[in-house]
Amino acid sequence: MIFFIRVRKSIFGLLLLLILSGSMQTVLAVEPSPERQVALRHLLKNDCGACHGLTLQGGMGPALLPDNLNGKPDEFLVATILNGRKGTAMPPWQPFMNHDEALWLIGVLRKSVH
Ligand code: HEC
Repeated sequence: MIFFIRVRKSIFGLLLLLILSGSMQTVLAVEPSPERQVALRHLLKNDCGACHGLTLQGGMGPALLPDNLNGKPDEFLVATILNGRKGTAMPPWQPFMNHDEALWLIGVLRKSVH
């Protein structure tokens, strides 16, 4: 009997740990290294800028200025960057950056410090 209680307790602990580590991941997004930040800003200007405008005020793609992103959740925009949008010109950038890097880029766009 005690054995079963122990097992159930440890399974509960394990579940709790899994849930906690899942939510921690979004809170503790890792900042890209300084070198990577330079590369990502470069990408933003040259590649994203080709469609969204050199100053991101819009072009073939919509403007990506703080006001344009206001009210759109981080994860929605991260998914747009990583997966692109089917049926539109927005391509997937998953091969070139990971989740945390896309999230960092959104932060840069929201602060408009590019
Ligand atoms: C080939 C053109 C093209 C390139 C290159 C491109 N985009 Fe886009 N992007 C688009 C288009 C078009 C849309 C609008 C899609 C739609 O109609 O929903 C879009 C949408 C977006 C959105 C969603 C905006 C919103 O208000 O919902 C974000 C964020 C975004 N792009 C970021 C980027 C980033 C970051 C890069 C570079 C890593 C990039 N895009 C490169 C064409 C492009």
